Amino acid sequence: MKKIAVINGVNLNRLGKREPEIYGSQTLQDLTEMLDATAKTLGVELIHFQSNHEGEIIDKIQELSDSGVKLGIINPAAFTHQSVALRDCIAGCEIKFVEVHISNIYKREQFRHNSLTAPACEGVISGLGFDGYVAALNYLARL
Ligand code: DQA
Repeated sequence: MKKIAVINGVNLNRLGKREPEIYGSQTLQDLTEMLDATAKTLGVELIHFQSNHEGEIIDKIQELSDSGVKLGIINPAAFTHQSVALRDCIAGCEIKFVEVHISNIYKREQFRHNSLTAPACEGVISGLGFDGYVAALNYLARL
């Protein structure tokens, strides 16, 4: 069965509590369940990972890549705008990533307009809420 990694970065463990006017009232658990239900219909297996620590995310991506995972969805959250290390990790691994943002980063503060990680990814979906993850999953499952 095709395996797809779902990586969520810093502060995304607080979905549902964190700035609900921007990120909505649903939790990370809700997102996980929604994606698992979609994955079931698509016949793919998801590997979920969330961390608030840049190095842990990098370790996980390297480990997944080395274990043969080829596809992934990543919301690097604030690391999007600041992490050269994560950008280099994505660029240097064998996983094809779609970058997802719940909010539209281009409608928000100027400092969010630049994604360091996006150029290392296959594509970017921003501003569609949790549906962005589902769209990314549909795309990756078809590859
Ligand atoms: C985010 C957007 C980022 O700018 C922000 O730092 C996040 C979440 C999003 O999903 O909209 O933590 O990646």
